[in-house]
Amino acid sequence: MSDFFSVGWSIWITTIALGGVAFCLYVLFSQLKGQAKKGEAISDTGHIWDGITEYDTPLPRWWVSMYLILSAIALGYWVLYPGLGSFEGLLKTNAAKEVKADQEKIEAMVQPIFQKYADMPITDIAKDEEARAIGQRLFLNNCAQCHGSDAQGSPSFPNLTDKTWLWGGEPEQILQTITNGRRGIMTAHQNLMTPAQASEIAQYVRSLNNLAHDQTRVAPGKKLFDQFCVACHGADAKGNQLLGAPDLTDGVWLYGSSEETIVYGIMNGRDNQMPAQKNLLSPEQIRLLAGWVWGLSNVEQ
Ligand code: HEC
Ligand code: HEC
Repeated sequence: MSDFFSVGWSIWITTIALGGVAFCLYVLFSQLKGQAKKGEAISDTGHIWDGITEYDTPLPRWWVSMYLILSAIALGYWVLYPGLGSFEGLLKTNAAKEVKADQEKIEAMVQPIFQKYADMPITDIAKDEEARAIGQRLFLNNCAQCHGSDAQGSPSFPNLTDKTWLWGGEPEQILQTITNGRRGIMTAHQNLMTPAQASEIAQYVRSLNNLAHDQTRVAPGKKLFDQFCVACHGADAKGNQLLGAPDLTDGVWLYGSSEETIVYGIMNGRDNQMPAQKNLLSPEQIRLLAGWVWGLSNVEQ
């Protein structure tokens, strides 16, 4: 008995499968009649359309034979291979088991390679050429869809090659980020202030990065910043890695530096997630990735 079906499902599926063939054969035989003899008049069905009579000719013999052969092949297939519910077939093939066996074989093959890095310090992994090659392949397969194949990110997906970090760039912090994921949440302020006030704060934030700004609105903007933003971004606006709140003075932007983008973020908030990898990748694979990512900004490439 295979694990996939309960007895009820098994009977149901078997009934549908065999019933289907039985029904087709029934239809076939109910329409069969002897071949017309030479010279014998062929009867018609009595239907005439636009002067064209519908004859009641017997089914061609070659067609009937093919129909029967195909039905026999279907039944033969079900005897040999799985298809009738939980009946495994005489050949006992099982695609799920074959895949599992293949996976285990590959696992056993690569395990010694990964084992080598299980205890290696992440900073050494970052300098090991073979480890870096594996790390890059893992990155391209598992991370590039979000962070880009060059790891430089795009709006809302952080650049992993620079020296600025939302959650910290120490090897252990990167390992944590990849293993358990991260979620950066900035609360919305649309019920707390007007768009004009948010725009004043944006002027202040832009002034911190030497971007064009309206000098007269910076002081009121800073006042509002001190009231609404310092809890997460800090009094100096340099952020807080425990919350994933970015440094707003470093000229590096996750979303963009335009007034419009900053105001949008203030009013609507942000909720951004790095998915945990611990259920997708092995601890050794995650170490290799952490080493590769750390190396992007710490090891001469
Ligand atoms: C579904 C998209 C997605 C995938 C896949 C993904 N990430 Fe991320 N990652 C993000 C987002 C979004 C963030 C930013 C989270 C935030 O804003 O706090 C992030 C953040 C990070 C950070 C923290 C950056 C910082 O500045 O602190 C690291 C490191 C990282 N990802 C590495 C990886 C690695 C390695 C992989 C592959 C195993 C990966 N990510 C796969 C979306 C993704
Ligand atoms: C509850 C904590 C919290 C508060 C309060 C908060 N922020 Fe944020 N802010 C964050 C976090 C976390 C992020 C990162 C979001 C992400 O990972 O996508 C962020 C992102 C930003 C960004 C995007 C930076 C970039 O690189 O694109 C700006 C700008 C910003 N905040 C400004 C502000 C301003 C101005 C205020 C006050 C009105 C404020 N924040 C209040 C937590 C907060």
